[in-house]
Amino acid sequence: MGQMIPDLAATSRASTTKIKPNGIPNGINTAGKKCQHDPTFTQKVIAATGPKANPRLAQIFPSLVRHLHDFAREVNLTVGEWSAAVDFVWLPRLPNPTLSLTPPPPPSQLNDCGKMSSDRRNETQLLCDILGLESLVDEITSKQLATSTTQTPSAILGPFYRSDAPFLPNGTSIVQGLSPSVSWYEKALEDSAFLSGKVLSTDGKPIENAVVDVWHTAPNGLYEQQDSDQPEMNFRGRFRTDQQGRYALYALRPVPYPIPDDGPAGRLLGLLDRHPNRPGHIHFIVSAEGHRALTTQLYDSRDRWVDDDAVFAVKDELVVRFEPREGDPGARWELGYDFILGRC
Ligand code: BEZ
Ligand code: FE
Repeated sequence: MGQMIPDLAATSRASTTKIKPNGIPNGINTAGKKCQHDPTFTQKVIAATGPKANPRLAQIFPSLVRHLHDFAREVNLTVGEWSAAVDFVWLPRLPNPTLSLTPPPPPSQLNDCGKMSSDRRNETQLLCDILGLESLVDEITSKQLATSTTQTPSAILGPFYRSDAPFLPNGTSIVQGLSPSVSWYEKALEDSAFLSGKVLSTDGKPIENAVVDVWHTAPNGLYEQQDSDQPEMNFRGRFRTDQQGRYALYALRPVPYPIPDDGPAGRLLGLLDRHPNRPGHIHFIVSAEGHRALTTQLYDSRDRWVDDDAVFAVKDELVVRFEPREGDPGARWELGYDFILGRC
């Protein structure tokens, strides 16, 4: 069986804690009240609607987003709770004796999201992403669990995580299948990058044996499970930090890609006159004993969508600048980044 997603393990524990409504309407920082969340977040989601949106939807969407976000803030909805709610919409799964919903209902009994979903795609999650809900619950959850203000900020997991990426030695590459015959060969050479840094505790001490789980798309914008031409587990790997808390690997500068928009989520984007693009990013889950697992993403500052993410996940602290790398035939770019984990 695959390893349990550490972040979700943490959040499901959090979901049993007492709800503390924060009383902040629409994320507005009312005078005298400490605002836990980005006060402009809900307005950003509303403002993404384009001028050619369906007129009725343009009229009702702001209210839907405000009420949905207020609900999540009022109850401090966690990632674990939101994720369980997403699964109320039936998803085809491998047979699971603990689920009363097997065997699968015939397609005629599925709604549009159910019909579009599979073990490789979760359309309800995508709908939530467009509404800013996954980012909002991620922020609520991480703020609730935070034990220090110096921790690296979190970002959403997204639907393309695989928990069983191979463990690779430090200093090796997550790029497979690189040959002149692949369409993205030149781009991969151009964007080859060396990533390194440390995993630290909030007191500044390096953490030995932390796991850095990393994944990103190929230069064609597709994750390996979306692209039958890529080798299994391409652009994925897990690395363990050494005694000084260091990790190092070869990867690529990330490229922007559209979220899958050929189903109901894409229809909604069309009706809202919105684009489906995410800025280029690299996903990480960094975990270590005695610390809260960190799910996050780093965004390349060169990207044209970095201020206009279709799923509202970018945080300023996670936008990074790659620098040219000298004297390394394996990489034209380099990025140093330290991850800071909070204790649990
Ligand atoms: C992702 O970052 O992989 C992602 C996040 C939300 C929707 C689709 C993809
Ligand atoms: Fe992604």
